[in-house]
Amino acid sequence: MKLGVNIDHVATLREARYRGREHGEPDPVSAAQICEAAGAHGITIHLREDRRHMQDRDVWAIRKIVRTRLNLEMANSPEIVEIALKVKPEIVCLVPERRQEVTTEGGLDVAGNEHALAETRKRMNDAGIEVSLFIAPDAAQVEAAARTGSQFIELHTGLFAEYFADEETRAAELARLVARAKQAHTLGLRVNAGHGLNYANLPTLHRVPHLEELNIGHSIVSRAVTTGLAAAVKEMLGLMAGYRG
Ligand code: PXP
Repeated sequence: MKLGVNIDHVATLREARYRGREHGEPDPVSAAQICEAAGAHGITIHLREDRRHMQDRDVWAIRKIVRTRLNLEMANSPEIVEIALKVKPEIVCLVPERRQEVTTEGGLDVAGNEHALAETRKRMNDAGIEVSLFIAPDAAQVEAAARTGSQFIELHTGLFAEYFADEETRAAELARLVARAKQAHTLGLRVNAGHGLNYANLPTLHRVPHLEELNIGHSIVSRAVTTGLAAAVKEMLGLMAGYRG
């Protein structure tokens, strides 16, 4: 199983202080380099239409330095499609951004937008970019995803993660993920998964077959903040230590 690290929240932290500026910390480009050096198999970023975290300049700078695979998450909107075709990530993952595109489970409504998604899938593939569709573990969505000709689906693990503490719901969500992964595999789709995965729920996900890649963001960035905090405080104390008044 491969790991794609979603570094959007590195940009979220930077934007909290430096929104509208051309610089700031933490730097998503360095974050991507650190993740790759640590063994990540890919870097995932989401260029949102509202640019709430990643900015266009980040996407280009990250494209330049990524040595593994760049996975660009994006809405199927004309502006972002044009950007993706220029940036040429190895793969795009089409995700819902606007409310009308969101099913109750939170994935893409592929069944309701099949034609538009198939068209974008073709444009991306023609440009040498693979396509993944972020969908809830729902049989009709898996079938529709296969009809679009996409190479991958990314199973939305949000509900599995959200209700992980509740044994009954967890079992039901896990069963849905297992069934949909099998169905997708049978239909010739390759299977990724993501959203809400963390250090506690990850081992249970091993029971889902055919998983190629997990995209994990928030829990890794959160863990980095806590595990890195002691070193950051010590470094600052070191700079203050020489004060002579
Ligand atoms: N996969 C997709 C399609 C996503 O939209 C996100 C969230 O941006 C993730 C994976 C990562 O989710 P998390 O940050 O909860 O690990």
